[in-house]
Amino acid sequence: MLLEGKKGLVLNATNKNSLGWAIAERANQEGAIVGIGAQNERMLAGVEKLIEGREGFETFTIDFSFEEQYGLLAEQVDKKLGKLDFLVHSVGYAPKEALAGRFIDTKLDDFLVAMNASAYSMVRLCKEMEPFLNEDASVITLSYLGSTRAALDYNIMGMCKAALESAVRYLAVDLGDRGIRVNTVSPGPVNTVSGRGVKGLTTKIDHVFDTAPLKRPYAQAEAANATLYLLSDLGKGVSGQVLMVDSGYSIMAL
Ligand SMILES: NC(=O)c1ccc[n+]([C@@H]2O[C@H](COP(=O)([O-])OP(=O)(O)OC[C@H]3O[C@@H](n4cnc5c(N)ncnc54)[C@H](O)[C@@H]3O)[C@@H](O)[C@H]2O)c1
Repeated sequence: MLLEGKKGLVLNATNKNSLGWAIAERANQEGAIVGIGAQNERMLAGVEKLIEGREGFETFTIDFSFEEQYGLLAEQVDKKLGKLDFLVHSVGYAPKEALAGRFIDTKLDDFLVAMNASAYSMVRLCKEMEPFLNEDASVITLSYLGSTRAALDYNIMGMCKAALESAVRYLAVDLGDRGIRVNTVSPGPVNTVSGRGVKGLTTKIDHVFDTAPLKRPYAQAEAANATLYLLSDLGKGVSGQVLMVDSGYSIMAL
């Protein structure tokens, strides 16, 4: 098993469709003890149902909108898990009004909320978890092609993902002297709560399926498997990268 004897933290998941859950479940199947997070107590009830009857899970709550919750998370990690071999940041949020219409109309308040939840949270999380990360640990965040392309209605999230991918490169430098790798996994559109927050998800999924080199469906499992590679020792030589998991869609041009 690829993660036998390893411990890690995956933040956050909402339900069985969450990429965070797919990654946590896959890591657990490969022998890891996994801390899985939810944004608040209400959402934690859903996550607790997912892990019911399974071994090797601990639960956490954190809402990245509240600075004081990072310290509380650290206390919980210290108590329940101790040192970590991997850390997965699987979080994105932008106010609904900033995810439709003209990007040029983005309001400062919405920009700040989205950036804080979706990009700065990765930096702040790494800072808080740094003392817990073992040498050679692996840190992953989730991004989307809208970081480098103008994706319809993705708007402010495109800027957030660009900032996130940039943060990954700087974090890879800061943490690299202890052998800690920091990478981004970038799936194509997948049917999740966040995915449905951007208009036209089904059309986008169909478009990728019609256009991408691999003419077969991809979803949570493919993203989780690619993440597993980077979390495991198989990915030991890789840092600061964006790994596209989109059936090859992002290489295409007309
Ligand atoms: N679904 C897609 O099409 C797709 C494609 C590429 C990348 N992603 C990225 O994958 C990651 C996971 O999203 P998902 O698609 O699994 O959706 P999801 O809605 O299942 O998961 C997103 C999680 O982020 C949490 N979250 C939002 N704001 C938060 C905050 N302020 N503090 C703490 N947690 C917060 C939510 O509670 C939820 O658990 C996100 O970064 C998303 O942008 C999704």
